[in-house]
Amino acid sequence: MSAVAYRVEGDVAVLTVDAPPVNALGLAVRQGLLAGLDRAVVDDAVAAVVLICAGSTFIAGADISEFGTAKALAEPRIRTIQDLLEASSKPVVAAIHGTALGGGLEVALACHARVAVASAKLGLPEVKLGLLPGAGGTVRLPRLVGPEVALDMITSGAPIAATRALELGVIDVIVEDLEAGAIAYAAGLATDGAPLPVMARDERLRDVDPALFADYRLKVGKKARGQIAPFRIVDCVEAACRLPGAEALAFEAAAFAELLASDQRKGLVHYFFAEREARKIPGLPTDLAPQPIRKVAVIGAGLMGGGIAMVFANAGIAVTLVDVGQEALERGLGVIRKTYAASVARGSTPQAKADRALALIHTTTDYAELRDVDLAIEAVFENMGVKQAIFARLDAATPAHAILASNTSGLDIDAIASATLRPERVIGIHFFSPANVMKLMENVRGAQTSPEVIATVMALGRQLGKVPVLAGNCDGFIGNRMLQYYSGEAEFMLIEGATPEQVDRVAESFGMAMGPLAMRDLSALDLNTVVRAARREAFPDERCTLIVERLVEAGRCGQKTSKGYYRYEGRTRLPDPEALAIIEAHSRELGVARRAFSDEEIRDRLFMPLVNEGAKELEEGIALRAGDIDVVWVNGYAFPAHRGGPMFWGEQMGLDKVAAMAERLAAANGERWAPGPLLRRLAETGRGWSAVGEVLAELRGEMQVA
Ligand code: 3HC
Repeated sequence: MSAVAYRVEGDVAVLTVDAPPVNALGLAVRQGLLAGLDRAVVDDAVAAVVLICAGSTFIAGADISEFGTAKALAEPRIRTIQDLLEASSKPVVAAIHGTALGGGLEVALACHARVAVASAKLGLPEVKLGLLPGAGGTVRLPRLVGPEVALDMITSGAPIAATRALELGVIDVIVEDLEAGAIAYAAGLATDGAPLPVMARDERLRDVDPALFADYRLKVGKKARGQIAPFRIVDCVEAACRLPGAEALAFEAAAFAELLASDQRKGLVHYFFAEREARKIPGLPTDLAPQPIRKVAVIGAGLMGGGIAMVFANAGIAVTLVDVGQEALERGLGVIRKTYAASVARGSTPQAKADRALALIHTTTDYAELRDVDLAIEAVFENMGVKQAIFARLDAATPAHAILASNTSGLDIDAIASATLRPERVIGIHFFSPANVMKLMENVRGAQTSPEVIATVMALGRQLGKVPVLAGNCDGFIGNRMLQYYSGEAEFMLIEGATPEQVDRVAESFGMAMGPLAMRDLSALDLNTVVRAARREAFPDERCTLIVERLVEAGRCGQKTSKGYYRYEGRTRLPDPEALAIIEAHSRELGVARRAFSDEEIRDRLFMPLVNEGAKELEEGIALRAGDIDVVWVNGYAFPAHRGGPMFWGEQMGLDKVAAMAERLAAANGERWAPGPLLRRLAETGRGWSAVGEVLAELRGEMQVA
């Protein structure tokens, strides 16, 4: 069966693309479109054509899974179809519902007109895949909306609503009944004459001030640190204003090919699929319906609890915020109000939306008010005794069907669950701070957590606009368990001779939003000393440094005291010889000779230990897939998505190199840094993460024989 159906209504041919899930422009769809258009052109009974899609959406772009395969290059290419559309003497109307994205919008832009339903969204999101629109988007869109709006749309990748698209002239009309409206519109064009193709309209490209592009490059440089695609997009839109249409299309095609071959594109496409894969939990019955979550309790009105309350209220779910005293509740609610007010002032939340959300947040000190909640999330400080006491109270106060969740960032979920009579309904839901901003939702399954609870919490993540990932129960779960190796190496390198500025500069030029030491300064060094002392006690034979302790002794607790690894003027961080002197003195104290570091060594020592620990998580089943770990790090720790995540990066660097680094660091730091059997075997046999299942089976087989 063809992916594109052909039928004639009156004198209008209707081409219906039907290629679930998102009608992407794979080879079969392109072949179907070509055949349908060829047929309509020669069909004497046809005066106009409508291009429409079945299912939930208009064409959502090129087929991303075809990238790098022969299918992507096979004719008909998207450009061939566009040539046919633009050459057609019979007007073609694109009928848009759902999302017209990337190649989908580019095909629509080659049609004579576009009609859409009010709920439709249109955009060119290629930048999110490390690409630029490669089917004329940078050439046609500026012709309709002008170069400035086109730059905003294409460099952000954010879709616009149909109403905005109508204002801008991207679509011609909004209709209620899409197919009937589009057929009537197409028939009208056949009678009255179609407008000029977009390619022939270049009045918006005349007299563009060249300074626009210089300014835009500066703007993009600030926002998209280290990424290539946004800069190439500016080049293309500039070329569209400067060159005749055909040459601008050729310029765009060359830039697209360059980006398609880039590591950034590979990293971002890996990330795209990893995020979607992470939602799928092997072993869960496919017919398992998530439990509806209509009312939620959040225990603890501190920064974390308040942020979590906002997440639910933003999604239209009623929240009861619980704390021990009225004062704590007032303070918490005050912070929430302030956060909404700032967001309204910035223009990122409409006042009415903030009001609606605030109205959904109710406060109480009385657990008796939790008798009708579907979910309770505890977000108090990290103390097992306190958490267990709260869970015992929640178990008594909430209905039997309610899910009880802890926002702990590393404590044992089973130990928390043991305080209840419903361990199968207990789960970890680890939000990252600030919870209303950070996308990651690390859900932690305990030994007894039921499949229904897992399915519910994973579905809830999407409903809340978060990125959910399922983790197993261990100290630190997926993300924080790895973090200690990253920050640990940052500190060991300081002792050996690197400076805080150098370590942070390397991490930031790699693409991290903030270097590990600046990050510590931000989150307060004194708070860190408790965890560090516990770790020294737990691993007495491991290498350790006392830099943080020495800094704190000198009154340097980080940003809050205006000095830590750095000194601060306002929020501006500056190198500080005093901090360096403390570090150097500690090197002497430990008898370590200081030496120079290359940026490459710093990069490898920071990031390779993450990969090593990630491999151990795969070995233990803490993470289900290497991609899940990447999703955790991109969304919870601002690891650059264009590097695909730490595991993808590690594989690109070579797992043999990662394993060799782990051997070296184990000798220097302690056994915990050594590679595990999985990484060793992958490295020895030259296999990658896709072979994890097979290697683990091999290793299990060998253990049984032994
Ligand atoms: N190609 C191939 N598969 C795609 C796809 C695409 N363009 N877009 C989505 N899919 C797949 C997803 O992988 C997922 O597969 P799975 O069910 O096996 O996991 C399935 O479609 C459903 O996707 P979502 O889970 O994301 O569904 P949502 O309903 O949440 O969102 C969407 C739908 C808004 C269309 C979202 O999928 C999306 O943003 N897709 C990407 C759009 C895009 O980037 N288009 C540009 C492509 S590049 C391009 O067009 C180049 C051109 O300029 C030449």
